[in-house]
Amino acid sequence: MRLGILGSGSGSNMQALLDAIDDGSLDAEIALVLSDKPDAYILERAAKAGLPTGVIDCRGFKTKFPEEAQAETAAALKAAGVELVCLAGFMRLVKAPLLEVFPDRILNIHPSLLPAFPGLEAWKQALDAGASEAGCTVHLVDGGMDSGPILLQAKVPVLPGDSAESLHQRIQVEEHRIYPEAVRRLAENL
Ligand code: GRF
Repeated sequence: MRLGILGSGSGSNMQALLDAIDDGSLDAEIALVLSDKPDAYILERAAKAGLPTGVIDCRGFKTKFPEEAQAETAAALKAAGVELVCLAGFMRLVKAPLLEVFPDRILNIHPSLLPAFPGLEAWKQALDAGASEAGCTVHLVDGGMDSGPILLQAKVPVLPGDSAESLHQRIQVEEHRIYPEAVRRLAENL
């Protein structure tokens, strides 16, 4: 299974996928890593691992993922032979035409127990809401904000004295476990 990764941040989830591939628990390869941020650490990590990388030109838009940029992204992923696209901390909403090129083949990892707390800093939303439990979700992307069929979830407790950072760290440990597992399960059924 050839994976394409889209990320805007540190790329720890991409690293988790790569680690699972390296230790043989995920039968896949990462064919291309793309970021909308030229200085994102995910690109540095990918380059260090010898993976092909590229930058998505979002035409100066801060949060929008313009249609031309989505079409270029789809073309780059296709040219790299990508079969499954993993969003890993990618901070723009994916819509057509990218979704149309990879129907039911784009996954996202989100740091909450969806449908609770979609959107930004979901771990902080959980903390602010006084939730006793938080977690993470891998789901198929459907063009909405952190919506789409849920593939796998993991719960973590919210502990007394948790800060946003300590809770996010605990959630990320689970993210790194369930993302490769969700990709493995989905790939088996394709
Ligand atoms: C993760 O918390 C993920 O759930 C969210 O963005 C963060 C990305 O982290 N979508 P990283 O870049 O994989 O370290």
